Order: sequence, then C-alpha cells, then structure tokens
Amino acid sequence: MEDAKILVNIILLILGLSVPCGARDVAASNPTAAAPAAAAAGPAASTDSSGLSAVAGLGVNWGTVTFHPLPTETMVQLLRDNGIKKLKLFDVDHEILTALAGTDIEVMVTLSNGQLAEMGSLDSAKEWVKVNLTRYLDLKGGVNIAYVAVGNEPFLKDYNGTFDNVTFPALKNIQNALNAANYNHIKATIPINADVYYSPDDNPVPSAGVWRDDIADLMDQIVAFYHNNSAPFTVNIYPFLSLYYGKGKFPVDYAFFDGNPNPLMDKGAAYTNVLDANYDTLASVLNKAGYKDMPIIVGEIGWPTDGDSNANVTLAQKFYKGLVKHLAAKKGTPLRPNDQMNVYLFGLIDEEGKSILPGDFERHWGIFSYDGQPKFDLDITGKGGQNTLVGATDVKYLAKQWCVVNPSVTNKTALEENADYACQNADCTSLGNGSSCSSLNDLGQASYAFNSYFQNFNQQNASCHFDGLATLTTKDPSTGSCKFNVQLAPPPPPMAPAPAPGLDSADGPSGSHSGSSSDHGTKSGSVQSALVPIATVVSLLFGLLAYLCLCA
Ligand SMILES: *[C@@H]1O[C@H](CO)[C@@H](O)[C@H](O)[C@H]1NC(C)=O
Ligand SMILES: *[C@@H]1O[C@H](CO)[C@@H](O)[C@H](O)[C@H]1NC(C)=O
Ligand SMILES: *[C@@H]1O[C@H](CO)[C@@H](O)[C@H](O)[C@H]1NC(C)=O
Ligand SMILES: *[C@@H]1O[C@H](CO)[C@@H](O)[C@H](O)[C@H]1NC(C)=O
Ligand SMILES: *[C@@H]1O[C@H](CO)[C@@H](O)[C@H](O)[C@H]1NC(C)=O
Ligand SMILES: *[C@@H]1O[C@H](CO)[C@@H](O)[C@H](O)[C@H]1NC(C)=O
Ligand SMILES: *[C@@H]1O[C@H](CO)[C@@H](O)[C@H](O)[C@H]1NC(C)=O
Ligand SMILES: *[C@@H]1O[C@H](CO)[C@@H](O)[C@H](O)[C@H]1NC(C)=O
Repeated sequence: MEDAKILVNIILLILGLSVPCGARDVAASNPTAAAPAAAAAGPAASTDSSGLSAVAGLGVNWGTVTFHPLPTETMVQLLRDNGIKKLKLFDVDHEILTALAGTDIEVMVTLSNGQLAEMGSLDSAKEWVKVNLTRYLDLKGGVNIAYVAVGNEPFLKDYNGTFDNVTFPALKNIQNALNAANYNHIKATIPINADVYYSPDDNPVPSAGVWRDDIADLMDQIVAFYHNNSAPFTVNIYPFLSLYYGKGKFPVDYAFFDGNPNPLMDKGAAYTNVLDANYDTLASVLNKAGYKDMPIIVGEIGWPTDGDSNANVTLAQKFYKGLVKHLAAKKGTPLRPNDQMNVYLFGLIDEEGKSILPGDFERHWGIFSYDGQPKFDLDITGKGGQNTLVGATDVKYLAKQWCVVNPSVTNKTALEENADYACQNADCTSLGNGSSCSSLNDLGQASYAFNSYFQNFNQQNASCHFDGLATLTTKDPSTGSCKFNVQLAPPPPPMAPAPAPGLDSADGPSGSHSGSSSDHGTKSGSVQSALVPIATVVSLLFGLLAYLCLCA
C-alpha cells in the first residue's frame, strides 16, 4: 500500500514535468485527433479493424537541425516508402514544402516562438498566411497543410512567462486569417508541454487534473477559442523524460506499455503507463472546462537511442513497439475510451546540430540515423505483417575512411587536449556514461573524437592532423554498438551547400536548435591547421543564432 502511494506520488510528480530552456521546445501536430464521437476525422483513420491498420497515419516530426542533411527529395521518398502520411515541421521550410507538393502527406507547419509577437495584428497574420501558406497551397498538386502550430511549447515554465502575452493573440489572428482566406479547414493549435497541467499532491490522480495556476485563465480562453474553431488541443508527452528526470525514482514499467503489476488506480480505472495517465490528466481538465469531445493531438512522443543509460536501441524499440501496439488496440484511455490517439513521433531522423543542454540524448531521437537508415525494426505503416522501417536509398557517403589516433602516440596530455578540441567542434555524445561508445578506452575515445571531427569537416585532409597525433585508416574502427560514422557526401560543388538547417525554425524536443556542436572555441596551438570549411562555419553560426533567439 505504502509502495503504491509512493508510486502514485512519483507519477504525479512527473506529470508536471518541466524542462530547461533549450529543452523541450516542442511542437505538436496534428489535429483530427481522435475526435471521439466525430470519429474518423483523422486522415488515415482507417476502418480496417485488423490489428496494426489502426495505426496507419501515425505522424512524425521532422526536425532539421543538422549540418549534413540528406537531400530533401531523398527524405520525402523515405517518408513515402514508409507510408508516413502525417508530418510535423518546426518551421515553414520552402524546400521541404515544395518537395511535398502533390503528395498526399498531410503537414503541420510551425510559426516559431520568436514570430509570435509579430502576429499581434490580424493584418500581419494575413500577410503571414499569404506569404507562407498560400504559395504552397497553390503549388501544382498542392501541399496538404492541415495545421499551423502557433509557437512551440511557449508556456514552458522555464520561459518565465516570456510568451504568455503574445501567444493567444497570435493564435487568434492566425486562425482568423486562415478563416478569412477561406482556409477554415486548416487549424491553428499551440503545441504545449505537459507542464501546463498537473494533479495536486494531495490527490495525485488524472481525474484531479487542473491547469497550472499562472496560466489557468489563459488556457481557459485558448480552449474556448479552439472549441469555437473546431481546433484540436496539442500536447507533447515524453515518457523517456519522465524516466530521465525521475532520476531512479520513476517506476520504469510506467514508461513502457508492457503492463504493470502496480497500476495507478483512479476511480476504478487502472493506469499502467504514463502516456495514458498524462493524456487523461489533460482530458479531465478539458472535461471540467466543458469540452469533453475536444480532440487531443500528441504532438511529440518518442525515445532516443543514445546519450543516456536509458537511451539505447533496445529500449527505444521496446517503447515504439509497445506504443504502436497500444494505439492499434484502439482502446483509448479510461477517460477517453473512444479516442484513437493521434500521435506524432519524435522524431524522424537524428539531428547532430541540436543543443545538448537537456542531455546528450538530444541528438539521438531519430527512428532513422543521420544517413536515413532504420535503427531498429518497427512496423509503423499500420499494415501489419512483415512491414518494417525502410531505409533511405541512393545515399551518397564520403570515402570509406576514418581518422584515428596514430598508434605510436605517447604524449597522453597532448592527446587529451586534442581530443577535447575535436569534441568541442564535433559530436561526442556517444562517449558519455551509458552511451554506445562509453566502453572505449582512452585511445579509443580519442580516436572517436578525431573521427567525428574529421567527418564533420567533410574528411578534409587537414582535419585529420591534430599535431601529428592522428592518422587515416580504411579499416572501420567500429565495435559492437559503437559506430564510427562515415559522413554523407556534401552536395555537388557548384551548388552551395545546403543553407543553415535550423535558422528560424523551432525544432523539436528540446532544444530546438542550437548549434552547439560547434562552439568554435579558438584553442591555440594544436589544431590551427584544421581547415574549417566556410559553409560549415556558416551553418554552425546560424544554428547558434537560432538557439540564442529561441532561448533569449
Ligand atoms: C513568413 O511570412 C513573413 C511575412 O509575414 C516573413 O517575414 C517570413 O520570413 C516568412 N517565412 C517564414 C518561414 O516564416
Ligand atoms: C527564468 O528565471 C530563472 C530564475 O530567475 C532564470 O535563471 C532563467 O534564466 C530565466 N529564464 C528565461 C528564459 O528567462
Ligand atoms: C504581460 O502583460 C502583463 C499585463 O499587461 C504585464 O504585467 C507583463 O509584464 C507582460 N509580460 C511580458 C513578458 O511582457
Ligand atoms: C466563442 O464563440 C462564442 C459565441 O460566438 C463567443 O461568445 C465567444 O467570445 C467565443 N470565444 C472565444 C474565445 O473566441
Ligand atoms: C539498454 O538500456 C538498459 C537500461 O539501462 C540496459 O539494461 C540494457 O542492457 C541496454 N541495452 C543495450 C543493448 O545496451
Ligand atoms: C606533451 O604535450 C603537452 C601539450 O601539448 C606539452 O606541453 C608537453 O611538452 C608534451 N610532453 C612531451 C614529453 O613531449
Ligand atoms: C560514469 O560512471 C562511472 C561508473 O559507473 C562513475 O564512477 C562516474 O562518476 C560517472 N561519470 C559521470 C560523469 O557521471
Ligand atoms: C589528401 O591526402 C591524400 C592521401 O595522402 C592525397 O592523395 C590527396 O591528394 C589529399 N587531398 C588534398 C585535397 O590535399
């Protein structure tokens, strides 16, 4: 009994989870949510009752904070090959939207937090709609834009109210501008973090859910506006973060969907996982406000595969398999038994340019790795049978060569200094405790760092020097789960390398954008010889700027 009580407290504690700036700037996505009675509003709400078919239409978030993106057409093909019908973007990306024209992929685009203030007048919102939506809706074949995400978790506690005054006006103006342009079918919705509601400590159950005090009035107005416009409520829910921030106190079983010997009991209902408990906490708040049929969209949910002891391929696969099965069962939740949850996975592909302020796992949320290859088997097509994730095709890599420590090295100090420098300018998030390469010895870790730097700078000769401590090899140094990557080939020379990935976008979990893999700290001495390609510097700076803007 006592144990059960503690468990309950922990769960509720976690329901109100908040994240540091740079963390969880999330966004949400697709509407149509499982409208209970209205049913089947969702694109792809299949009526086929066989198993996984219910999951057809599962959405994904595509964040683009990377310095070495796959070509957009390759990515769009990847979406199509995997039967992904719903997509959420963290900005209004011209290249991506153009490539989506004529596909049946339904899209949620995002107006970033930094743009909310500008949308304070109906005229500016009309202009935004004209400039950023009409052109894509009018493209040949059209782009199936179904939602505009207004901000990305603007009410996150850690923003200290920065966006409280500008979000609702932006929501109203954008929706009204959409309606005025006869785009009433496009819904504006604010992807929010689950920290806008909670259950009180003295009654920690979903049915006791209430809005967070500081924004309760605002949330009431927002949901009234949603109701008037048949718009969905969008929330991001992260069981992985419950586990991560729970620091050993959060019951692991609740993060997954494999049943639980100690369910959380609430008025006769048994909750065995945190997704259902969190979803119903929101449902109960909406019920009390009088909107028991308001569609709910889970704008982001996912599990990272590296960068923490609980972030690995095995657990990610367990989570996703359980989630897909849970959704396919179409059982809804205790408070919303008829809801077919409308869910967007976070995320599509790894983002090497994200800030690791929230944790090293931040760059490893993809169900596909940096090169568009599946990290594990999973049927998200909803077709059942042998379907599994299909990798990107025709991927162009740089030469099969790696930069490693020269075996004759004896000066440990010099090696450490150079490895540190490499890590400041590349991605070493696989080296930390509990990560995929944590078991490498010192030399192995230095090699990993050198290679990461070398690949990040497109294998330029000078980027594998490190005061003579490094050497090239054509023998893959990867061992077990620890992969020494070969980077993607940059786009052909005449064309400028892809523009800064994340400028002006509000990307995904956490952090949204931040270019941190590249603090170009100037370390004197050793590595001056490493050439830094101009394009990369530009990308890095843009990423950094975007991060500063978002977190400012
Ligand atoms: C959208 O439209 C506004 C004009 O209202 C423009 O300033 C902005 O750059 C456009 N693009 C994006 C991605 O928001
Ligand atoms: C919010 O306030 C805290 C405490 O005063 C401060 O440390 C933090 O930097 C602030 N965050 C933002 C985004 O203003
Ligand atoms: C929001 O508006 C209130 C009331 O006008 C004001 O007191 C507060 O300072 C504003 N907050 C921000 C972040 O501008
Ligand atoms: C919703 O519509 C009602 C009836 O038209 C109106 O009175 C109310 O002000 C609207 N609420 C919001 C938040 O727009
Ligand atoms: C994944 O993480 C779990 C929890 O830390 C651990 O028990 C398991 O061994 C890990 N699996 C792999 C393949 O690393
Ligand atoms: C090792 O490297 C450090 C830092 O680069 C340097 O100061 C030191 O003199 C070197 N030691 C030897 C024995 O060469
Ligand atoms: C990494 O793990 C080891 C052993 O588990 C521990 O001693 C060390 O303090 C950890 N390091 C960090 C940075 O957490
Ligand atoms: C890089 O090094 C290789 C092998 O040493 C050499 O064949 C090649 O020409 C060099 N490339 C450049 C751009 O210096």
